[in-house]
Amino acid sequence: MSFRVVEQAVPRLNRSELAVPGSRPELFEKAAASAADVIFLDLEDSVAPDDKATARNNVIGALKEIDWGAKTISVRINGLDTHYMYRDVIEVVEQAGDKLDLIMIPKAGNASDIYTVDVLVSQIEAAKGFGRRIGFEILIETALGMKNVNDIAGASPRNECLHFGAADYAASTKARTTTMGGVNADYSVLADADEDGARTVHWGDMWHYALSRLVVAARAHGLRPVDGPFGDYSDADGLRAAAKRAAALGCEGKWAIHPSQIAIANEVFTPTDEELANAKRIMEAMAEAGREGKGAVALDGRMIDVASIKQAEVMVRKAELIAARGKA
Ligand code: COA
Ligand code: MG
Repeated sequence: MSFRVVEQAVPRLNRSELAVPGSRPELFEKAAASAADVIFLDLEDSVAPDDKATARNNVIGALKEIDWGAKTISVRINGLDTHYMYRDVIEVVEQAGDKLDLIMIPKAGNASDIYTVDVLVSQIEAAKGFGRRIGFEILIETALGMKNVNDIAGASPRNECLHFGAADYAASTKARTTTMGGVNADYSVLADADEDGARTVHWGDMWHYALSRLVVAARAHGLRPVDGPFGDYSDADGLRAAAKRAAALGCEGKWAIHPSQIAIANEVFTPTDEELANAKRIMEAMAEAGREGKGAVALDGRMIDVASIKQAEVMVRKAELIAARGKA
């Protein structure tokens, strides 16, 4: 282990994160009643320019009046390149900052973007005497943001979470995509011919590099990595496959841009009973190994060591959080 200890952000369940346009207040109560772990009320790209001020007022009203229960509640402000952003922060935090868990900062480009929002939020919190600190979740969805992802991840003690936004990232990198966060048949490998001359096509995941890079930056700073939207909400299998890939890389959850996507994200990012039972067996086997003075032992014909116990502990802790949410 390095001498430098990575402090972990506030632990929160983040299996599913439901996007709700601030301009559609009729959806707010439905979102509050949903099974999403996190809800973000959007002031940014799902809200048309003429609706920005109304959406801001809707969101302030919703924060004050709606019972969000045990859910984490976030507001996505507009980008720092717009003139909406300062009012988003000032009006939302001044009027309802004590009800807000997180602010989502979209299209973050560098550490100074985070610093700027931090300055505003810190001053408002101090002026209003709010007792708890609002956290930041940050959208990495531009080439600049991805280039600076490490600096961004370490830019504020408020940082909790990095999200990957495939659609804007594709636009920024001028990538060729079909649907938001979906796969692209052009990103494939054509295998050499087999004995019969047939050649198979192996589809690749064009988001692999970006998502992996984001996961590393997030984890190196103790933050949660979360995969963003999958646009085709009629394709449940495609969403499940994308969520599983993200989970395999270390992400803690995925966005839902439609309520039908919540259950799939919750399912994929919840450890199965089998995984949990296995994790507990690993912890027991390692405790036994410790008593016998061994560092590595065999379990079911496979080697396990100190790294295995850490993974097992993470899984057990997550299951405890999920169980606690169930009771809330
Ligand atoms: N939050 C809560 N409830 C939602 C919802 C959301 N984001 N999206 C849809 N619903 C509700 C609908 O009101 C409807 O409820 P009902 O059964 O009581 O009538 C039900 O879920 C089914 O919705 P449906 O009719 O299939 O969807 P729609 O045509 O109303 O809306 C979208 C489709 C994609 C426009 C809508 O889901 C949406 O706005 N999603 C979020 C978009 C967003 O925030 N984008 C920014 C991040 S990428
Ligand atoms: Mg975006």
